Amino acid sequence: MTKEKNWTRWDKDKRETFQEVFIEWYEREKRNLPWRVNQDPYRIWISEIMLQQTRVETVIDYFYRFMEWFPTIKDLANAPEERLLKAWEGLGYYSRVRNIQAAAKQILADYDGKMPNSIEEIHKLKGIGPYTAGAIGSIAFGLPEPAIDGNVMRVVSRLFCIEDDIAKASSRKVFDTAMRVIIDENHPGEFNQALMDLGSGVCKPTSPKCEVCPIQQYCLAYSKGVQTEFPVKSKKAKPKKVYYLAAAIENDQSEFYLKQREETGLLANMWTFPLVEVSELEYAAYKKNWAKDEEMDLFDLVAEDPDFSLFPEYPVIWQKRHFGEVTHIFSHLKWHILLFYGRSNKTFVSESRSQWAKRQDFSTLVFPKPQMKLVDQLEKNRTLRNH
Ligand code: ADE
Ligand code: SF4
Repeated sequence: MTKEKNWTRWDKDKRETFQEVFIEWYEREKRNLPWRVNQDPYRIWISEIMLQQTRVETVIDYFYRFMEWFPTIKDLANAPEERLLKAWEGLGYYSRVRNIQAAAKQILADYDGKMPNSIEEIHKLKGIGPYTAGAIGSIAFGLPEPAIDGNVMRVVSRLFCIEDDIAKASSRKVFDTAMRVIIDENHPGEFNQALMDLGSGVCKPTSPKCEVCPIQQYCLAYSKGVQTEFPVKSKKAKPKKVYYLAAAIENDQSEFYLKQREETGLLANMWTFPLVEVSELEYAAYKKNWAKDEEMDLFDLVAEDPDFSLFPEYPVIWQKRHFGEVTHIFSHLKWHILLFYGRSNKTFVSESRSQWAKRQDFSTLVFPKPQMKLVDQLEKNRTLRNH
């Protein structure tokens, strides 16, 4: 716990000059971003959701396309799930886009298709937590609400030497209190975005550029030379490791066999090569035994190995060398996937939620990130073949 709340020492005059200096800096230096061209709550909402786990540079193209495909909340509410997932493909955290659509339906049903303008109502929408509600409320509607994310906690923890552990949910209250003291009630949207820009461009995690910081003279951590000791953050548990074998099975028409994931759960309804989960030991054995033979031509196919239990039900001739490993980290899981290549001279009948697709048609399907990496891996091995 913080022993003393340093922001209580800021009098009205100090708060006002701080706000003035900070907002002036923002107006001068603010980044030109497509969701900043107006105060349309829909655009602000979508951008804030996209920005939650994704870098600004990545979000920009997704944002333009999303607005083109779904220009209004109504278009979003009525869009087919397939199309939505396609718009989100590669961004990750797909529950975000499902929640967005659920919220769009709520807005259509309860608010005539317009984003409600009170913080309580905004907060009630599916997928909108305190951060997003604060961002929409302040930026779109000028409500004096904080929008506290990791960047803001970093800046504010340095500004006031706040020692509370930012990984703990209970610390949020401390930052909320501090923010309500310093926020410029006349320009809350600008104030919050100034914090975001400062956090991403100046008050960076490992090497803050204090020498060019507009609020340096207000910063307690800087005055003590301890800026990199903030924020205080406990380590979170490592993601759990999960091991898969993946099969890129190609038929005589140069089509690949793809499977659609279950309707619920991680990566719901997205398409991947067939995957089977194996134990860590099995995985290690496959990795070792199927990589040994450096002499073998990559595309020398061998008859099925009796030990290779991947899809015994399919008539496939496997390549006796794996195509390499792909890893992908989800918030709480780390996938390790070993890619195998096989050919089938019969187009075996597709089961439900599966299909054969040509390489050039992959772009019409919704692939999660790990599947995109598998496709890259497949391509790399194909390039080898052509040499
Ligand atoms: N990160 C989160 N929200 C943002 C915004 N509105 N502008 C820039 N970066 C952000
Ligand atoms: Fe961050 Fe340094 Fe500015 Fe303090 S002076 S807010 S530590 S960049």
